[in-house]
Amino acid sequence: MDYVSTTPKLITTEADVTPTVLAAMADTENPRLKEIMTALVEHLHQFILKTRPTEEEFEYALRWIVEIGQRTNEFHNEVVLAADVLGASTLIDLINNDGMQGETMSALLGPFYRGGAPVCGNGDCIARSETPGASLFFSGRVVGIDGAPVAGAVLDVWQASPVGLYENQDETQEDCNLRGKFTSEADGRYHFSSVKPAGYPVPTDGPVGVLLRAQNRESMRPAHVHFIVSAPGHKTLVTQIFSDAPEALAADVVFGAKQQIVGNFVMHTEPHPDYPDASLPFYTCKYDFKLVPGTSTLPVPPISGKKS
Ligand code: BEZ
Ligand code: FE
Repeated sequence: MDYVSTTPKLITTEADVTPTVLAAMADTENPRLKEIMTALVEHLHQFILKTRPTEEEFEYALRWIVEIGQRTNEFHNEVVLAADVLGASTLIDLINNDGMQGETMSALLGPFYRGGAPVCGNGDCIARSETPGASLFFSGRVVGIDGAPVAGAVLDVWQASPVGLYENQDETQEDCNLRGKFTSEADGRYHFSSVKPAGYPVPTDGPVGVLLRAQNRESMRPAHVHFIVSAPGHKTLVTQIFSDAPEALAADVVFGAKQQIVGNFVMHTEPHPDYPDASLPFYTCKYDFKLVPGTSTLPVPPISGKKS
């Protein structure tokens, strides 16, 4: 409904509040801001009228929001985490990336992407400090939806250590451990090595953890490796390649796992001529990323560094 600005009137009943607030915002010049804020106020008021919170509940809710802000800094982003566990990030991801043109499905960015990962050459290992876990050799191609190779695509890769922590959460890991940026070759190929990822719990020592416990929810994410694949003339792909059991994928606390982006992680228990130095067992995963034509943009990193 399109509200128009009217002479302000004093509110006398519950029913007066929504139209009065919407009329107060009716002169918003930016049409998209007006559309969003009108819908927000309508739905927020409907929600309040439906749940009829007590004043104590309202104070608690406001404190929770204050805390997600207070817990957020350059090393940790509790606001992104809150959006993720509420399913908001996955819903926005699916609205904007439906995969209908045959491109690789996307997945939420999460709170642990930081810009400035070291630039690597194909074949480099992103385990920069002593990192437990079996070796993983990850390779594939970047192609368009027509199958043509995309040369010069940048693959920004990051993952948690098998102990369940990203390097920015763990002082024992070197700066930018398990992070790196690779560039696809003329035939679209890329390859790097790492360690096989493991599932891990999202941080639960803040207000998001309080909510998860109150809801009797698990805090686990299935094992995955994150990728941002970008190339001029192509829509940037933000995704994760998963390696876990179906139950763990379905139980993802942030609802990010999708069947199309489950990788084929193959365990090797015998020496393999392509990987002569690998200790046994080791894993390989081959995955081709398909990009759709579009604009190449990069997300703003939710965090920017590692606490030293
Ligand atoms: C992650 O995959 O890094 C992640 C995503 C959402 C919440 C926490 C972690
Ligand atoms: Fe992750």
